[in-house]
Parts: sequence; structure tokens; C-alpha cells
Amino acid sequence: MKHDDNVLEVENVDLGYGTLKVVHGVSLHVARHELVGLVGGNGSGKSTILRAISGMIQPWSGTIRFNGNIVRGLAPYQLAELGLAHVPMGRQLFPNMNVEENLLVGSYLPRLRAGRQARLEKVYSLFPDLKPLSRMMAGALSGGQQQMVAIGRAIMLDPAMLIMDEPSLGLSPLYVKEVMKAIRRVAEAGLPVLLVEQNIKQVLKVSHRCYVLENGKLVLDGPSAELEGHPLIRKAYLGL
Ligand SMILES: Nc1ncnc2c1ncn2[C@@H]1O[C@H](COP(=O)(O)OP(=O)(O)OP(=O)(O)O)[C@@H](O)[C@H]1O
Ligand SMILES: [Mg+2]
Repeated sequence: MKHDDNVLEVENVDLGYGTLKVVHGVSLHVARHELVGLVGGNGSGKSTILRAISGMIQPWSGTIRFNGNIVRGLAPYQLAELGLAHVPMGRQLFPNMNVEENLLVGSYLPRLRAGRQARLEKVYSLFPDLKPLSRMMAGALSGGQQQMVAIGRAIMLDPAMLIMDEPSLGLSPLYVKEVMKAIRRVAEAGLPVLLVEQNIKQVLKVSHRCYVLENGKLVLDGPSAELEGHPLIRKAYLGL
């Protein structure tokens, strides 16, 4: 599968905790300029796969390559330095710092200091709603606004790729749509994204391709436009 156009390649990985295997032989890839969804129900293993990609846990077997580097043995901060930005579940902003201060936290690495004003402008152009809120405390923002700050902070790392764990979690339907549209803009600006979600309906609308995970195994994948009409998706996930 190794292909120069892929920023991320996960090849036949088994993952687990202790002696319990929870992910079985999963392979997936994300090419440059792609927005790829990884969807599945509660406990299907989505976050476990993200943890392995970002170096928090090690695969039992199989290989993960990020930007041509084999991830095995690299710590999360080393992957961040290589350009992998992980937007964690639950946003994790500093509530008593304002929006701009939260964004600037993303540019803490010495090599990022130079261009950080330009990147701040880029974040405000991707999320125009944030600009007038730049002096507001993050803790006072709505859930959807906080999610945009969390994504913006990841962009401040000047990453080669974004991985996101359930950005729609806890948001009202209106904000879910807003956040999904914002993620689409991020991908269209040239940043590849792996988007993990339970909300398959929304992910199919914005992503280019999608993988469906059940009980730690991939059961389906393909172009999102095709999956929307697939009988399994319509029946099991869209309730049609
Ligand atoms: N730290 C852990 N120790 C032991 N088992 C874990 C741990 N984290 C997750 N698991 C188990 O691994 C399985 C997959 O969990 P995971 O969090 O990857 O699922 P998920 O698809 O992200 O689910 P959700 O949509 O609820 O976030 C579950 O059975 C879970 O109980
Ligand atoms: Mg999860």
C-alpha cells in the first residue's frame, strides 16, 4: 500500500490493553488533501486507533507510517514535532485564558515562533466567528466555539495532518453542522484530516472517504457519496 501521496498509512494493526485485544487487523490511509472519516459505535475502537497513530499506545502488530516515518516507538511529542496534530476529545482549552492566548499555546515550539502571527490570521480566516471573540475567556464560549478554538490551536502547530476525536460530541445539531463545515474548510485549505465520529450522517456529508468500524474490525469503506446509499449504512446507521 505504500504510496508517496499518503500522509498516513495504517497497515494491518492489532491493538489492545493489557491482554485484551480490541482492534483487529485494521488498515487505512489518508492521502494529502483528503478528509477521511472513521466512524463506528460506542466502544468499537476508534479512539484506540487514534491513540496508536499519535503514539500514546504501541501496536501489538502491524505498521503505522506518518509522512513516511514508521511511528513505532515515537512518543506523542515527537509525532507532534513531525507534524501530527491531535485534537483531543473534550477540547481541553484553558478556560481562564482568552481565545487568542489559547490559540497561541499551539505555537509553543521554538521553530513555530516566527510565523505565528500569520498562522493566527489563517485561523481567523478559517473561523471568521472567532475573530470578534479573540479577547473572550475560552470558558465563556459555547461548545461549538470552543471546538473551533481547539481545532484552531492545532492549526497553530503548522501541522502536516490533523486527527480529531469526536469534535461533534456534546454539541447542539446546529453547532455540529457549523463545526463540520469548518473542518471541511480546513481540509479544503490543504490540510489532510482524519475525523473520528459516532455521528456518521454528518461525517458522510463532509468527508471524501469513510471507514466503518464495528467491534474493532473494519466492515466497510469507500467514497462517502457511495456509502450514503449503501444498504448496511442506511439500515444500521441512518435508520432508513
Ligand atoms: N485504557 C483502557 N484500558 C482498557 N480498555 C480500554 C481502554 N480504553 C478503551 N478500552 C476498551 O477498548 C474498547 C474500544 O474503546 P475505544 O475507546 O477505542 O472505543 P471508541 O470507538 O472510541 O468508543 P466511543 O465512541 O465510546 O468513544 C472498548 O471495549 C473499551 O472498553
Ligand atoms: Mg472514543
